[in-house]
Amino acid sequence: MDLVIRDIETLLTMDSDDGLGRLDGAAVGFRDGRVAWVGPSDKAPDAADNLSGKGLIGLPGLVDCHTHAAWAGSRAPEFEARLAGAEYSAILEAGGGILSTVRATRAASEAELVDATRTRLLAMRSRGVTTVEVKSGYGLSVADETKQLKAAAQAGEQAGVHVVTTWLGAHTVPAEHRAHREAYLKQLIEEQLPAVASLASFADAYVDRGAFTIAECEQLFGAAKASGLGLRIHAEQVTYTGAAALAARLGASSADHLEHIDAEGMAAMAAAGTVGVMLPGAMLYLRDPAPPIEALREAGVRLAVATDYNPGTSPVVDLWTAATLASVMLRMTVTEVLRGITVEAARALDLSDRGRVAVGMAGDLVLVRPPVGEPAEPSVLVQHMACHRAEHVVIGGELVGT
Ligand code: NIG
Ligand code: FE
Repeated sequence: MDLVIRDIETLLTMDSDDGLGRLDGAAVGFRDGRVAWVGPSDKAPDAADNLSGKGLIGLPGLVDCHTHAAWAGSRAPEFEARLAGAEYSAILEAGGGILSTVRATRAASEAELVDATRTRLLAMRSRGVTTVEVKSGYGLSVADETKQLKAAAQAGEQAGVHVVTTWLGAHTVPAEHRAHREAYLKQLIEEQLPAVASLASFADAYVDRGAFTIAECEQLFGAAKASGLGLRIHAEQVTYTGAAALAARLGASSADHLEHIDAEGMAAMAAAGTVGVMLPGAMLYLRDPAPPIEALREAGVRLAVATDYNPGTSPVVDLWTAATLASVMLRMTVTEVLRGITVEAARALDLSDRGRVAVGMAGDLVLVRPPVGEPAEPSVLVQHMACHRAEHVVIGGELVGT
């Protein structure tokens, strides 16, 4: 082995269909960048490098499957306006909100975007996040969407974090097209899509008040799918539109938010295997109602949890905080939440080689020390909010800084 981590107090492999795959006193070995051995520590093979996991909780490298981490500018004034009673959709319809971040992101150079995004990715990595989905959607033109996607990928390389890119040209209609939105839809399909098809793994759309309609989304997703992109969607966040059902029928990998989803949407998602991504940071900041978690569970929808890290609705960089909020605000169980930031988040990104600790998986692992005085039990990771820094992070079989 190149590296073996021995005596891990509590290892949560997630290598099970619905549990945590817990092993006590286990070791994990890495070779050629991948997990090559998992089992009881006293049987672990020799290695060039060795590390003790005594007192620590081990998990697969965390996966943040919904972020808008590549932005420029500040939404602090809008935060204050919302505290004074202004409404999110109304701010957007009046040319602020997402559109204000679009103005700042268009004005930033690619290098400036890379720098800001790298800093944010490193903050995520220090918490144990090793795979991050990053969306565009603050460019809304061919040049600016491609700039954002390239910046996200480059920041990922510089930070040593796996970045999965999603094209969100359909985030909102940009100011210059507000009077003739069909021209923007045409630009999305005929100009942006060909330009981003090789830069992104997924296409996403925000279907809601102040954003896109279900008919526009259907047209866009048809074209995106034909260009080889996977699909994911911002659905049923502020108002109900039926977007989750549509996306599921089109084979989307995930439908995210879901505060206002109905029974038809849930049934369609369960049938298609579309993962429901819970974004409690946005719920908290917008004071949105909780998605119908029990009904989602009963319908058999798989659930992931993500930060939705963005400057407007979820200035939350810390995936552990999202995990805690998901349990407190949505009553997700500890097992659901911990699977939701690992194996189910990987599933939401169609990544079958991570999110679990098992032989052959990506060599990504995080070791966390329980809060002082607490046992190395999974529940303490969820119970205590915003206090987990990773003690060690392994990415691609190598120890990286935290
Ligand atoms: O996921 N709701 C739409 N998109 C983002 C917010 C982006 C923004 O406000 O800048 C979200 O919440
Ligand atoms: Fe989002």
